[in-house]
Amino acid sequence: MTLFTRRGLLKTAALAGIGGVGIPAMGRLGGWAAAAPEPMVLQTAKIQTKLMDGGLTRDVLTYGNAGMPPVLRMKKGEPFAARLVNAIDDPTTIHWHGIRVPNKMDGVPFLVQPYVYTGDHFDYVFTPPDAGTFWYHPHCNTLEQMGHGLTGVIVVENPGDPKFDAEFVLNLRDWRLGDDAQFIDQFRPRDAARTGTYGTVRTANWLDQPQYDAPAGGLVRLRVAITDVTRIYAFRVDGAEATVMALDGNPVPERFSPDALLLGPGQRMELAIRMPDDEGAIVSLRDVRGTKPKILANLRATGGSLKRDVRDIAPLEANPVKEVDLTAAQHISLALSATAENVPSDGICGSLGYSFWAINKVPWPGDTPDPTAPLAELKLGKSYVIDMENLTPQSHPMHLHGMSFKVLSSSTRQVQPLISDTYLIQPNEKVQLGFVADNPGDWLLHCHIIEHQKSGMTSYVRVV
Ligand code: C2O
Ligand code: CU
Repeated sequence: MTLFTRRGLLKTAALAGIGGVGIPAMGRLGGWAAAAPEPMVLQTAKIQTKLMDGGLTRDVLTYGNAGMPPVLRMKKGEPFAARLVNAIDDPTTIHWHGIRVPNKMDGVPFLVQPYVYTGDHFDYVFTPPDAGTFWYHPHCNTLEQMGHGLTGVIVVENPGDPKFDAEFVLNLRDWRLGDDAQFIDQFRPRDAARTGTYGTVRTANWLDQPQYDAPAGGLVRLRVAITDVTRIYAFRVDGAEATVMALDGNPVPERFSPDALLLGPGQRMELAIRMPDDEGAIVSLRDVRGTKPKILANLRATGGSLKRDVRDIAPLEANPVKEVDLTAAQHISLALSATAENVPSDGICGSLGYSFWAINKVPWPGDTPDPTAPLAELKLGKSYVIDMENLTPQSHPMHLHGMSFKVLSSSTRQVQPLISDTYLIQPNEKVQLGFVADNPGDWLLHCHIIEHQKSGMTSYVRVV
């Protein structure tokens, strides 16, 4: 009831802003209507849907009420507004993964905003500074909420983007379902202490191996986001010429073909694919990692060939990320390790009750800053280099909120100077990530294998 009324008010205020109808503006809402477009409502819902043969799956979570969370389209440099309305039986928030938002909009409960309780709402408004592929998800009880469906893809468009003949967005994720198509335990402690617990049903856009039509001989932009809580992918494209144009929301300095390209949870890639000339020919995006390789999605060539050339695609415009000053940069050492402490802790916001992992020897299982102090306090505008070392036998997709870093060097491989928000660090690798601390606030830094994050591999930096 309350919800409905508030939403009504919001619509009224927005209308008043546009039409000048004589309804007194409701303080904040009125002001907001003038500054931003009418907010899109993202209402959490519990639904039943078909994810595998054998019946409908109950207790699936989404935003809206029609299947997968919508692909959100924003425009670089233009304000975006969304109202999160919480209609599920659990507190939640939204984090805009990879988008450099103001701290108050970052969606981390307690650190930057209150919980959004059942029946309550929270208004997000920000202007995405960067174009690319991003995603959104809760930052509360995340293993459960993301595991049950709350992961959506964001496309930030740039008017200067090159033209393609078709564009597709793939939301890649798994589900932990039993033979009866119902959810089973989201994790097993012994797996959480290793690679994380894998899902049993693998999907792209909530479908098993979907197929989409694209013009023969045409150029396709394929945006792929790994929104799974655990799985690391090794991508390959069969049946067509394909090049990686962007990773994690930023153009790559040099395009390359995805030959078993490893990307972890939270990461995104954009591919330029030149469809085959023959009608009916199939192009497959595959995951070739592990013992059970899988076709994730297919594209089928249709119509007469457009005879395009992949070299026709102009470079993507670089995002306005400040250049790190390496001569002045201060270094921050960061060691990722397993921890021997195995204390059950009853943290809030979905702690798993275990600590298996640590950053600089401190396991931080919850989402609250208490009692851990920030890993480092950074000066606004200064350059920093994170010297990160992985002392574990597992890979970890390490994600920094609020700021983008540049990959400077790795001890084990040749790296491009990519701009990113998530780096998949391999066992025994040391990597240097440089960035300018240009966004004030408290910013999480954590592994995006959610079981690792929730059992210790989390910390945060403070920019003041
Ligand atoms: Cu994708 Cu801390 O999150
Ligand atoms: Cu990890």
